[in-house]
Amino acid sequence: MVQITYYGHSCFMVNLAGTKILFDPFITPNELAKDIDITTINPDYILLSHGHGDHVADAVSIAKQSGAMCIGVYEVMSWLNAQGVKNTHEMNTGGSREFDFGKAKLVNAVHSSSMPDGAYGGNPIGFVITGKEHTFYYAGDTALTMDMKLIPERHKLDFAFLPIGDNFTMDYIDAARAAEFIKCDDIIGMHYDTFGYIKVDHEAAQNAFSQKGKTLTLMKIGETLEK
Ligand code: NI
Ligand code: MN
Repeated sequence: MVQITYYGHSCFMVNLAGTKILFDPFITPNELAKDIDITTINPDYILLSHGHGDHVADAVSIAKQSGAMCIGVYEVMSWLNAQGVKNTHEMNTGGSREFDFGKAKLVNAVHSSSMPDGAYGGNPIGFVITGKEHTFYYAGDTALTMDMKLIPERHKLDFAFLPIGDNFTMDYIDAARAAEFIKCDDIIGMHYDTFGYIKVDHEAAQNAFSQKGKTLTLMKIGETLEK
């Protein structure tokens, strides 16, 4: 069983067979997520795709209150260490490692990365997570890239989180093409509606996917779904 809870923007809690993995916490600065109380969020792991504020804003406070292990590239983990977060595991693009939820592999993302204080953030990445029952891809912030075609050569994805909001990442047309590249029919949208630049027409976005025989799920903030 996998349970997915949406906290807005690109932040999801994935409960993978009882282990809770939080991706890219950006909650307290997000006006759309004002009903979410971050003091109630206690993951076992926090996975960070890159250093931008709209992905790490609440990482330090949630890491400290939960004691969760943080996973991401070396530079993002070093920045967390400097903020007093000690439970970190640094990796880099192309690497994978076994954790108690399964395997996490860092894959390429075409974007940029710096920390909120201007420190160097290393390379932006996405994650392929291989659990006991489910395998999924969390793309982070990225353009459509041919590298996505490498993923299904080794991983059979059950579902994937893709950015759809345009301007800072690929748009939903390219995201639907990405769904083809990764050979995955079940897509959850992220990185849309939070700011003016990335507002999307939900129906048009979902049509772009259904035309390719794929499903785009746009979760409500606070909603939990089960797979
Ligand atoms: Ni970004
Ligand atoms: Mn972003």
